Amino acid sequence: MFTFYGRFAAGAAVVMLFGAIAIADGLPEKNVSPVFGVELPAGYRQWQVISVAHEAGNLNDIRINLGNDIAIKAFRNGQRPFPDGTMIARVAWKLVPSARNNAIFGRPQSFVAGDPTNVQISVKNARRYAATGGWGYGQFENGKANQDAALMQTCFACHAKLLASDDFVFTSYSR
Ligand code: HEC
Repeated sequence: MFTFYGRFAAGAAVVMLFGAIAIADGLPEKNVSPVFGVELPAGYRQWQVISVAHEAGNLNDIRINLGNDIAIKAFRNGQRPFPDGTMIARVAWKLVPSARNNAIFGRPQSFVAGDPTNVQISVKNARRYAATGGWGYGQFENGKANQDAALMQTCFACHAKLLASDDFVFTSYSR
């Protein structure tokens, strides 16, 4: 017997069910970059080291480049273009003097990682990101995806200044 109330209750149950599925999927607050839909990869902090670098000027940071297994294998073998599934994480911190270390050395020579600045991710998927050389990009601050779509347009615009034979990646593997 389908009364009006019965139908209403059934409808409400369906709405609640789909609402619950949406929340379980994390749909309402997906932590991905605009334009590319790149997320902060789980476990990226456990990836292996590709290399390190320092940027002076306004950035004044120290940074490490980490790669997932696919990336590390490709870097070690000199494989270009990088295969689909390659992921690179560029993790940066402010470069600050260490008073404690300097006291031990007896002169001001020590600089260490200070506060984190941001994490930049590049992901290779030749088909999905065909318009940007096969690379998708994301930038994360305190684990949250930066939602500035204009910022996302700058990533490949600059990386594209490299040769395609470098597959638009600046960093070389440090042995
Ligand atoms: C003005 C040029 C420029 C822009 C804009 C830029 N990058 Fe880069 N990117 C570089 C350079 C140069 C390096 C190497 C820097 C270093 O090692 O200190 C680099 C390195 C990287 C790396 C390490 C792998 C590699 O290619 O060497 C990642 C990941 C990365 N950038 C992601 C991004 C993302 C994401 C954005 C956009 C939010 C972005 N980049 C915007 C120039 C740029």
